[in-house]
Amino acid sequence: MNSLGLFPAFVSLQTLFTLTAYQLNDMAAAFSQEMESGLHGSSQSLAMLPSYLTCPTGREQGIYAALDFGGTNVRAMLIKLHGQGRFTVLAQRAAPLTDRLACYDYTTSRTTVSELFAFVCTLLAEIVPVHGTITLGHTFSFPCRQTALNDARLLHWTKELAVSGIVGHNVNDLLQKALTTSGLTRIRPAAIVNDAVTTLLTAAYTDSTADIGSICGTGHNTCYLEPHFPGSSRPMYINIEAGNFSAVPANRFDDLLDAASDRPGSGRLEKMCSGRYLGEIWRLTCLDFAQKGLLGAKQFPQQWQTPYAVTTQDLAALLEASPAALVLPPTLVQQDQLFFRTAASLIVVRSARLVAAAWTAVLRRIDPELSRPHIIAIDGSLYEKLPGYAAAITASLSELLGKKASQISCRLAKDGSGVGAALAACQGEN
Ligand code: BGC
Repeated sequence: MNSLGLFPAFVSLQTLFTLTAYQLNDMAAAFSQEMESGLHGSSQSLAMLPSYLTCPTGREQGIYAALDFGGTNVRAMLIKLHGQGRFTVLAQRAAPLTDRLACYDYTTSRTTVSELFAFVCTLLAEIVPVHGTITLGHTFSFPCRQTALNDARLLHWTKELAVSGIVGHNVNDLLQKALTTSGLTRIRPAAIVNDAVTTLLTAAYTDSTADIGSICGTGHNTCYLEPHFPGSSRPMYINIEAGNFSAVPANRFDDLLDAASDRPGSGRLEKMCSGRYLGEIWRLTCLDFAQKGLLGAKQFPQQWQTPYAVTTQDLAALLEASPAALVLPPTLVQQDQLFFRTAASLIVVRSARLVAAAWTAVLRRIDPELSRPHIIAIDGSLYEKLPGYAAAITASLSELLGKKASQISCRLAKDGSGVGAALAACQGEN
């Protein structure tokens, strides 16, 4: 088949994955409404979870333990806060939650809470100082309903994790119990914090204009500083649980992916824009086009037949198009290679545009006229590494906010989960 033969396939791909400014504005408006009702406990999809944390002063000092549990890896750290926004990482140990070579997987429903936290404690044991007690902040990157900084109940797992015995329980108590069992009684867990919040805390430690934090990685989420949280006399960081937003402009492949996922109907925005899912959207799309005979090749390559066989790193490699990074089977006809790359690019750009629409809603809530500068602090591999991602976000913000977009500065805030957890522990102590 020549390139003209593939023309209808390209047109239909574009139609499926291109979102207009009109659609994004619609989404931003619906997102704003959901934020408002979420703050009053009646949202369909945005939980708007209070963090019991407010902005740091920048003067926080002391040595704290930090635990980062995000769903892919777990990391224990010892962090010294110097004040004036400065910090030093004194020690750190990290391990993946799944390691086929070492024959373990702490992510499935076959893992119990005590097994998981015993594993976490082996890492903490390696970084904790030999003498004295130490306060710990715990970045736990899942939706938790909090009633205090140290009382956070897991609402449900996301990112396809399924460890048993944690949903509905206070994660801080579970960690405390495991620390006692492991003899680590000198560690005092004082704060459970979402990763979007720790990212924002870290940025606000050095710059008080940082008032939105976001994660564009395996999962997706956004938090912000809410000036008037019902029942609170001071501004509070709110974990929007943005990835659960449901009024999304989804296509049939998003619906297919959702139907086959662990929790159909939930995490609809996350399933369209986060690293856990982009490769699978691409795989489902390309498989469908191949099966309908719309591509040049008769058969879809065997290595891509399995669900989740294609990862976001594979898409990044496709987009980089460097010979070393090429993941495409050499037998593919040239038009198919172009089709696969175009699909990757459209899916990545769509993700960035959806994220920009959600941020637009948050910005319009906290500063409708955009009359002052805002820093959006972002962590996550998509924003940091995916070719074209950060640029597509900036372009979409300009499209949505016009000239006022110059008030917004998007800033990569790496490793917030460690420093932010230490800052949260510091607020928990005071
Ligand atoms: C979780 C959020 C988290 C985000 C980024 C989502 O799956 O629900 O709580 O902030 O992933 O890690």
